[in-house]
Amino acid sequence: MKCLKVPKKEGEEVRNKLLEEDLLYKKGKISSSDDDQGLFLPLKDIGEKELEKFKEMGYEVVEKEVEERERIERNYEDLVDIPEELKTYLPSSYDIVGDIALIKLPEELGSYKGNIGEAILETHKNLETVLEDRGVHGKFRIREVRHIAGKEKTVTVYREHGAEFEIDVSEVYFSPRLATERWRVVKKVKEDETVFDMFAGAGPYTVLIGREVDVDHIYSVDLNPKAVKFLMKNVERNDLGTKVTTYEGDARKIAERLKVDRIIMNLPHSSEEFIRPALKALDDKGMIHYYEIGEESEKEERLQKLLSEIREENLEVDVKEEREVRTYSATQVQMAYDLYLEKT
Ligand SMILES: C[S@@+](CC[C@H](N)C(=O)[O-])C[C@H]1O[C@@H](n2cnc3c(N)ncnc32)[C@H](O)[C@@H]1O
Repeated sequence: MKCLKVPKKEGEEVRNKLLEEDLLYKKGKISSSDDDQGLFLPLKDIGEKELEKFKEMGYEVVEKEVEERERIERNYEDLVDIPEELKTYLPSSYDIVGDIALIKLPEELGSYKGNIGEAILETHKNLETVLEDRGVHGKFRIREVRHIAGKEKTVTVYREHGAEFEIDVSEVYFSPRLATERWRVVKKVKEDETVFDMFAGAGPYTVLIGREVDVDHIYSVDLNPKAVKFLMKNVERNDLGTKVTTYEGDARKIAERLKVDRIIMNLPHSSEEFIRPALKALDDKGMIHYYEIGEESEKEERLQKLLSEIREENLEVDVKEEREVRTYSATQVQMAYDLYLEKT
């Protein structure tokens, strides 16, 4: 089978890239080279053309025997010790942030939380802790959590696209579910741009952009002092100290001091309150990645209102891309709009 040979220290990053482009043969085991310095990443049966990019990056494609992985994944629902009639209430999914699992539980399962936590720990040997996720609240968008199994802790290290984030899941907003959306935005950022991450949290956009693109500078703001503590740690942890300036405060105030090419507005419940300050911080032309949450049936109306508000500021606006990021509730959706703006 064809494998991509990569240095061990670049293994995780390249594996993520292959996964992203659907080139990795996931059922094959990854093996080490004889000198233990390299890894062989098994590839799907694809043409040479798809691999051109990886070859240009200096990686070799080699023929190698690949062992199939055994199927070890088990379902926590099969392991959990609860009465049969309650099994219907078990959530089919939960989030994993580093070595912490976060699960939302309905009231009916109240007395069995511990058993559920234990079953999740049993399913994933690399997990240390299971927390009950009681939702995101308040202006800092902080998740209320309760310990249900494993080690009592809320701090973990999460990895995404080769970047590392230290996160206290009870002190700063974070969602692993937005990884695809973050990467979509990262891929749009161009060299030498200045970027304003208005609601930076623990810094996922800031750090991924800083690592992936040779930008001029990133200005990152959060109102939550604890979020800024993690933002600063993560900027340092990923060696981006010279590329990023962090601020604790209201993004509206910081916006008054900046002129940038690209703005990320990830505060989807109240983005509309921040659009005018954002427009002021944008140079003569540039891009805003605007997020919002609302009734799906009214999304076009909200978009048209936003566009007319922008036009009132003597700006031309073009919706370059729109994406439904996720379903938020039975009737609500989270939308992403890439808005290209230019002064008229
Ligand atoms: C939905 S979270 C997004 C965090 C981060 N961008 C992410 O993707 O994980 C929104 C963040 O905005 C921050 N925030 C709320 N109001 C703010 C304001 N007026 N100025 C700056 N940050 C604010 C919150 O503290 C929170 O960390």
